[in-house]
Amino acid sequence: MRASIVVLPGDGIGPEVASAGVAVLRQVAERFGHEFTFAEHAIGGDAIDRFGDPLPVQTREALLAADAILLGAVGGPKWSDPNATVRPEQGLLAMRKLLGVFANVRPLKLHPRTAALSPLKPERTKGVDLVFIRELTGGIYFGAKTRSETDATDECRYTVEEIERVVRHAFELARTRKKKVTSVDKANVLETSRLWRSVATRVAADYPDVELEHQLVDSMAMHLLTRPADYDVIVTENMFGDILTDEASVLAGSLGLSPSASIGGPGAGVYEPIHGSAPDIAGQSLANPLGTILSAAMLLRHSLGLPDEAAVVEAAVDHVLEHGNLTRDLGGNATTHAVTRAVLDACNAKAEAA
Ligand code: NAD
Ligand code: IPM
Ligand code: MN
Repeated sequence: MRASIVVLPGDGIGPEVASAGVAVLRQVAERFGHEFTFAEHAIGGDAIDRFGDPLPVQTREALLAADAILLGAVGGPKWSDPNATVRPEQGLLAMRKLLGVFANVRPLKLHPRTAALSPLKPERTKGVDLVFIRELTGGIYFGAKTRSETDATDECRYTVEEIERVVRHAFELARTRKKKVTSVDKANVLETSRLWRSVATRVAADYPDVELEHQLVDSMAMHLLTRPADYDVIVTENMFGDILTDEASVLAGSLGLSPSASIGGPGAGVYEPIHGSAPDIAGQSLANPLGTILSAAMLLRHSLGLPDEAAVVEAAVDHVLEHGNLTRDLGGNATTHAVTRAVLDACNAKAEAA
């Protein structure tokens, strides 16, 4: 098949991990006889420096014409002055809104070797296999903001429609899995959460085969560490999902392993690791590329409809996690390049065997 893929390297380790994802996609195209074209565009701090805009018009136009989008990460200390008028992260949020990708899918699977590196005891994390569905285009991220010398506000607003579509997405996914949805909110305090809870309860009536439980976000943060294997699909609003998914990534051994897919819009999906630009390790080939490579596998499956190719990439990552020298975040001393190379080799071996 033919596909045009927009690549947004961004800032910090973004370009390092994005190029790992592209290398894997190129190899998949070659091995399986597909024609993928890659067009790099500016986003984030890099785009502010070059075009004065974190999501320049050329990037917007390319995003709207793409079949799929692979993103590294944006942001960094250079652009983080709290009084700055323009910020890299605004480019990311504008892109999500532009594409209408309201469902951010963040799976968490454990691999025995890396789970052993988690600060949690292996008996706590045994059997963990969960997926977060994070609402991505609403809530406090997108409400009105004000700032004066003496105060500041961020409005949190959700409509029934915004809640319903993402909760339905979670139920549909749960139907293909362990048939359990945990809806996370702060309904004891927030009006938006009370609306969220009532919509989730109503939607659940359409899915009698799926169990729904409600959980308050503060205790959820605790349960994720004490009994993570009890969860299947976890659906929650934008900011809670942002925080809980970084927390949950530690169960798998490293933030650098977690992929994501942002889908549900009329056009292309966005695929990116859940981590940020990691300024503390940028430019040293220390970044773990596996979260981005697994995001590329999600791109193959969800945007290009290539499940066999996605499975080859995932099996290759599993192979490297089992046998390879890993990056420093996972206790190894391999470079970003070396881990990427190992995945490419394993992909070749798996594709031959397939
Ligand atoms: P971060 O995710 O960039 O880093 C947190 C810690 O995890 C750091 O110690 C970092 O070295 C480590 N880490 C992250 N990814 C790694 C990888 N692939 N391999 C090995 N180690 C990895 O979070 P932060 O430091 O709070 O944020 C830095 C910048 O990134 C901020 O400007 C923030 O806004 C931005 N950010 C962007 C995205 C995105 O583009 N999607 C996501 C999160 C944060
Ligand atoms: C993420 C990031 C972004 C978010 C930031 C950089 C705007 O943390 O993708 O998880 O909060 O959504
Ligand atoms: Mn985040």
